[in-house]
Amino acid sequence: MKDLLVEQIRDLYDAENRITAALPKMEAAAHNNDLKQAFQSHLSETRNQVDRLVEISNILGISPDGETCEATKGLIREGEELIPKLSDPDVGDAALIAAAQRIEHYEIASYGSAATFATCIGESRIAELLGQTLAEEKEADSKLQKIAKGGIFSSGINKEATQ
Ligand SMILES: [Fe+2]
Repeated sequence: MKDLLVEQIRDLYDAENRITAALPKMEAAAHNNDLKQAFQSHLSETRNQVDRLVEISNILGISPDGETCEATKGLIREGEELIPKLSDPDVGDAALIAAAQRIEHYEIASYGSAATFATCIGESRIAELLGQTLAEEKEADSKLQKIAKGGIFSSGINKEATQ
């Protein structure tokens, strides 16, 4: 179980570094100001998440390097391929949100599993750190959901995109 946790931590470390590189591009591609802000604030959160994974690696006595997160790599590439094809700004924002939510859902599943593995082997501090990131990912996902549905903004990106 410890080997499985180590593999997951390395996978997440690679994923978070890829997301750190992708978020400024997503922010630049976004048109809606709230969406730009959401990407910007998630960038600083993501940097903290990288630090947490380094802290976890120190506890485990491992290097966080050595894995490629093919899933995140693919999800980011799909988003990058789609955005330039969409000339309408609202449709582009809707596509960005969809791409970002796919990544969040992947992270939510990964952090949830990793926290469970940590608890299984009695690593409560690691489980706590993973739980903090898990909560941030869930919050980021629900913020994106709100922006898309227009729950907190009267115009609502997806509504505009269908007009
Ligand atoms: Fe993250």
